[in-house]
Amino acid sequence: MKEFYNSLTFDGTDYQMQSVNLRDFSEKTATPFYIYDMNYIINKYERLKMCFPYESVRIFYAMKANYNPHILKIMKEHNFCLDTVSPAEVILAKKIGFDAKNILFTANNMTDAEMKTVKEQGVLFNIDSLYRLERFGKAYPGSEVCIRINPDVVAGENDKVATAGDLSKFGILLGDVQKAVAIAKEYDLKIVGVHEHTGSGIADTGKVFESMVNLLQIINPTDFPDLEFVDFGGGFKVPYEPDEKENDYEEFGAKAVELFRTHCERYGKALKLYFEPGKFTMADSACMVLQANTVKNNKGRLIVGTDSGFPHLIRPVLYGAYHHVVNLSNPQGEVKVYDIYGNTCESGDCFAMQRELPEIRPGDYLAIMNAGAYCRSMASEYNLRPLPAEYVIYDGEVITAKKKLSHEELAERILKDYGM
Ligand code: LLP
Repeated sequence: MKEFYNSLTFDGTDYQMQSVNLRDFSEKTATPFYIYDMNYIINKYERLKMCFPYESVRIFYAMKANYNPHILKIMKEHNFCLDTVSPAEVILAKKIGFDAKNILFTANNMTDAEMKTVKEQGVLFNIDSLYRLERFGKAYPGSEVCIRINPDVVAGENDKVATAGDLSKFGILLGDVQKAVAIAKEYDLKIVGVHEHTGSGIADTGKVFESMVNLLQIINPTDFPDLEFVDFGGGFKVPYEPDEKENDYEEFGAKAVELFRTHCERYGKALKLYFEPGKFTMADSACMVLQANTVKNNKGRLIVGTDSGFPHLIRPVLYGAYHHVVNLSNPQGEVKVYDIYGNTCESGDCFAMQRELPEIRPGDYLAIMNAGAYCRSMASEYNLRPLPAEYVIYDGEVITAKKKLSHEELAERILKDYGM
């Protein structure tokens, strides 16, 4: 029986990820920990590709969503391509074995030093300002490059992740495209790609379509004679709430491909079609498991204290994001309403407010769902607690992807980091 929409199944008594019973696993594993279903990740990636019935579609996984090297290594074996944002991401990807031609580098506000480091790695740059394009042209005349255009559409799950529109810091404005073309000419740069990324978690695929139309309008063989691909970024939405439905990406894909084909005919060449999903690839493949240790009844309000906190999974606090919570230990308990808090020194440190959940008792294991994207990768050691362990289930086997440090080990590591 499939419960909810993600990688967990519920048989009426227990939650499983593949063949792993999460209650049993939690009882013998130090919490908090992240656990990922690798086969689910691979399926999501392949499924998205299938939504675009086009010969040369390429999906670049945005590795900022989760850079766990064990996951990246298996992704590499399955021929994933990567979108990267920092020199260390590029270097990590190369060390894991990704070929430079399967890596795109889309940095924002990069320095000259970063530019040099990444250029030495041989990956294609996606440049998002006229200033940087000029610096790049001066330093590396004759190079191939991709340029990021601001498609002038505001969309995304919240203001912090809407990455286009007049006031956005990203991309070259549509009105400045001729200036970019002129810079490219001056330095003999070959613009092989044109890119946009409108935002993250975009509910309305109509907005994405609009941004595609806007971007394609500027693409013609006169200004872009060397073009090989158009990259429409990420932003594919994943349902986080139980009653949310996934967008119909098959329908969207068919429409997008039709638009793209028509454009390619006008352009006079079959361009490649790129996307860069982070959230869609990863979000619902994982959960973070933590343990309740305190239950308070504050004048009728039930407050659950746990052994993790927002430093380990910040999306609810930072974005007000909804993450579904599951009681792994007592799934058939009497339903009550709970506020579920973390263990740090801030009252905002809350995973979920006023949630109906089967009775939570101290010692119960809770799973915070949709923890695959932008959760572990945005975690910190604030309040100096060890980061969660990470486990990856692949073909039924559990890989210990990262151990959790003990408190002693963490204190020692801090001293070492600071040269003491
Ligand atoms: N490409 C570029 C250039 C991006 O900036 C991003 C995300 C992506 C692709 C992947 O977007 P996705 O498919 O994951 O929506 N921390 C936020 C999300 C930040 C996304 C930033 N850019 C969150 O937890 O919602």
